[in-house]
Amino acid sequence: MAEDYQMPKGELMKGKRGVVTGIANHQSIAWGIASQLAAQGAEMAFLHLPGMERRIQPLAEGAGVKTVLPVDVTDDASMDAAFSGVEKAFGAIDFFVHAIAFADRNELKGSFVENTTREGFLLAMNISAFSFVDCAKRAAALMPNGGSIVTLTYMGSERAIPNYNTMGVAKAALEAAVRYAARDLGPKGIRVNALSPGAMRTLSLAGISGGRSMLAKGRSLSAMQADTSMEGVAGAALWLVSDLGLSTTGEVIHVDAGFHIMGFTEDEAAEG
Ligand SMILES: NC(=O)c1ccc[n+]([C@@H]2O[C@H](COP(=O)([O-])OP(=O)(O)OC[C@H]3O[C@@H](n4cnc5c(N)ncnc54)[C@H](O)[C@@H]3O)[C@@H](O)[C@H]2O)c1
Repeated sequence: MAEDYQMPKGELMKGKRGVVTGIANHQSIAWGIASQLAAQGAEMAFLHLPGMERRIQPLAEGAGVKTVLPVDVTDDASMDAAFSGVEKAFGAIDFFVHAIAFADRNELKGSFVENTTREGFLLAMNISAFSFVDCAKRAAALMPNGGSIVTLTYMGSERAIPNYNTMGVAKAALEAAVRYAARDLGPKGIRVNALSPGAMRTLSLAGISGGRSMLAKGRSLSAMQADTSMEGVAGAALWLVSDLGLSTTGEVIHVDAGFHIMGFTEDEAAEG
């Protein structure tokens, strides 16, 4: 399985069942996470955007995943069908990975103030933030013995990053939703956290104007002077969804080679 990545093998997820959303292809962050969870013995269902079956099926087979179901998170009937499919396959689940975001290309370039439309704003909020709340409610209903829910965010929620615009606002809402969901679900033994990776080369990044410069800056402005690795993000996901993360909830964990801690660079300081 997962020819692309050498994920550490082990038994941290042995006996655990859960759902991974958001796999579009082998570059998806969700695929990296699924590869790591499979290498640690997790049993998974994949929920993917309708129409992507041909791409997902070979990946699912490689990871030994038998339950592969379509879901459009903007459609209640589709959500009902997908979650009842998961319940039918597994009964209870232990973890849920939400790796879903979308904004129209026109919202992801130039002036935030000039280019943000009501329609585009609400679409981004619906798919990238509300879907998490809806998934958390439905996943929690399948977690009678507690569990772990993880979503994916980006530092454009905390700082104004060129072109990230509406998606940054949606990610800020998503991160707040993580804290509120963690508070609600904590007494049920369900932990809720977000990972905040640096820029990574995926389909989502390709939709952002200047995505390539986000990658380059993510590297040159990071403490480690390095790209964010899929192995690093998948390892952090493993920590959060396994029992290793037992006392961590409501957090946004940066996995970005130290991009978020930096002020200005040595070169910029020398210019001074
Ligand atoms: N790539 C990056 O640089 C980066 C950095 C930080 C956070 N993230 C976040 O990671 C997550 C995964 O993105 P990715 O970079 O792996 O890209 P990706 O394009 O591979 O994944 C995004 C997924 O969202 C799914 N999706 C979109 N609309 C949907 C809908 N209506 N219903 C169901 N699924 C839908 C897509 O099918 C796709 O699988 C996103 O939340 C993204 O914002 C990405």
